[in-house]
Amino acid sequence: MAVPQYDPCLAQNRHEAALLERLDPARLPRHVAVIMDGNGRWARRRGLERVAGHKAGVDAVRDTVETAARLKLAALTLYAFSTENWKRPLSEIRALMALIRRYLHEELDRIHGEGIRFNVIGRIHDLPLPVRVMLQRAMKKTAANRGLLFNLALSYGSRDELCDAAQALVNEAAKTGKKLKVTPEALAARLYTAGMPDPDLLIRTSGEQRISNFLLWQIAYAEIHVTPTLWPDFRRRHFLEALVDFAGRERRMGKTSEQVTAAPAPVAPFPKG
Ligand code: FPP
Repeated sequence: MAVPQYDPCLAQNRHEAALLERLDPARLPRHVAVIMDGNGRWARRRGLERVAGHKAGVDAVRDTVETAARLKLAALTLYAFSTENWKRPLSEIRALMALIRRYLHEELDRIHGEGIRFNVIGRIHDLPLPVRVMLQRAMKKTAANRGLLFNLALSYGSRDELCDAAQALVNEAAKTGKKLKVTPEALAARLYTAGMPDPDLLIRTSGEQRISNFLLWQIAYAEIHVTPTLWPDFRRRHFLEALVDFAGRERRMGKTSEQVTAAPAPVAPFPKG
């Protein structure tokens, strides 16, 4: 049975308490990445505009960040706006940008108070200036925090990220005149996620089974959990269900089951700061 090391207030009902009981703290992922999907369908099913789904999705963001912080996960990455999302109607893009600003305005003190370090991954310079200003302020304010690393993926596209990393290597080689070898370590050190552990668990809501240009390099060995729950309905219970599912997986990383049982993979320390 799990050692009950969790915050006693974490479970809000019996179902969550039972899920927590099944969660071995030693088998929690260090980094969870989430593709938040289904906001539009959530709204349409209620006869509402798509933006109503995004607004409702903010409650799920709040709940998920709080759960990850209380479980003392090292990192949480939420996919909030992809490079492809710029193709959406301007009214929806504007509404999403306004929601991000409002979220930071309302939540930053709480995020900071919980010791969370806020960070953005993606082409931040593509975002409107008022959004950039708020994001920079949030990153600066929480930079010294040592709790959960909360990454918000904004104007994020994994192919762009990989191209940026490769370009950085090429530029450095040209500048220094040195021969730079392209290795997995050299490339990973130039990704937006440099220095962070790769996600161990990728959650996608709304039942779609796609990666959608999200962290293609970093999820090489992640376990994938797809839930039919639409993002605005995603709550602590669904997060805990995903973690219980993860804890039951055998992570072989190319080895045989026998090898893994004989010598479980060591957990590399997560560099803070
Ligand atoms: C995907 O659902 C969701 C998005 C593109 C945006 C996610 C944004 C939020 C959850 C709210 C704002 C975020 C923060 C951090 C304040 P979809 O619109 O593609 O849904 P559909 O597939 O049902 O159409």
